Amino acid sequence: MVDLKKLKRHFFRKSREFNFFLIVTPSFEELALKELKEVYSNIKNIEIIKGGIYFSADLNVISAVHNYCRIPIRLLLRLGTYICNSEKQIYKNLSQIEFENYLGNNVLNIKVYSRSSWIYNEKKLESIIRNFFIEKYKNIFSFGDNGITLFFRMNHNKLTISIDLTGDPLYKRGISKLKSQTPMRECNIAAAIKLIDNFDKYKFIIDPFCGSGTILIELYMKLKNILPKREFNYSKMPIVYFIKNTDISYQASLKNIAHIFIGLDISFKNLKIFKKNIDNLFAIDNLFAKNLIEVINANALSLPLKLGKDEFIIFSNPPFGWKLLDKNKADSLLHSFFEIMFERYGNFKFGVFYPDNKLLDSLSSDKVTFPFGGHKINFYYN
Ligand SMILES: C[S@@+](CC[C@H](N)C(=O)[O-])C[C@H]1O[C@@H](n2cnc3c(N)ncnc32)[C@H](O)[C@@H]1O
Repeated sequence: MVDLKKLKRHFFRKSREFNFFLIVTPSFEELALKELKEVYSNIKNIEIIKGGIYFSADLNVISAVHNYCRIPIRLLLRLGTYICNSEKQIYKNLSQIEFENYLGNNVLNIKVYSRSSWIYNEKKLESIIRNFFIEKYKNIFSFGDNGITLFFRMNHNKLTISIDLTGDPLYKRGISKLKSQTPMRECNIAAAIKLIDNFDKYKFIIDPFCGSGTILIELYMKLKNILPKREFNYSKMPIVYFIKNTDISYQASLKNIAHIFIGLDISFKNLKIFKKNIDNLFAIDNLFAKNLIEVINANALSLPLKLGKDEFIIFSNPPFGWKLLDKNKADSLLHSFFEIMFERYGNFKFGVFYPDNKLLDSLSSDKVTFPFGGHKINFYYN
């Protein structure tokens, strides 16, 4: 059993800083850093690499990231990097780490990588590490796929050891959502929001091709600041006792928002899924004003809404030509929609997820490209 008092005095001291690595979808690193700094300003030694951000901070950053960040995928606690030129050195370095202080007596899942090092056989490296744990911690840790993941990354004979503080990806907020076809990933929606200037200015947020509503629901949850309803790895570890603000009052965290969310879709079937999702969301907290989200069964091209110029933003993931619709048909639907909108409103504000498209290239002021289910998709915005 770990002695919490002793741990507090010597190990997880208030002033002690730790090293972290935030894993992020490639191309969203800068946006994730912007979000991180907004939720926790006291971070140092920042270094961005493709797919993540290194930084150091005190332990409270852990709850801030898990409660409020939506762009990253997971947060790792880096225990250290050690030069290991032999099996003996691996043992010696591992012996210096007080694993039980970090991990309590949780089940462990060991993941090993090796690149450009004397030990290129990952199975062999894994068995060395497992043997170490079996010898030193035989009554403390057991192993299993559902355990807390410990990463051992050997690169040029340097072994970096990290703990996954998150578990299931961070953008999974624990609020169950039913999905129709090709919904956007929650982390991509959170990143897209960060790209739109003055998002709060737009009263109506409209998704004319809303399907099961992932985009509107995620936007709503992000803007409203809805806390996750799930457990993270770190909440099973002794570290949790030394982190402030793990128990933020749910209601106190909620922000007032003035947006009205409107979803349109031609498919009644998909809208039924959306409506179920809205009911799930409202069941969690009756504070949510039900009329914040309106759902309309209509063809986007019939544009059944009467809105003032500059009071809305179109935020959408229209059907595109992979499996949903023939590519030419998809492009022609998108083009007709933009034509009608321009005719009615002149220039209007939009953020649209779509594969490469010449019209969107010419209309948007910028785009960010990111991986999406084995393809690439852009977020076009103006
Ligand atoms: C890529 S899916 C949207 C996925 C959505 N973001 C989600 O979370 O489920 C595209 C949606 O556009 C809808 N759609 C296709 N043609 C349409 C049209 N002319 N007007 C409105 N919706 C249309 C489809 O029914 C489908 O639900």
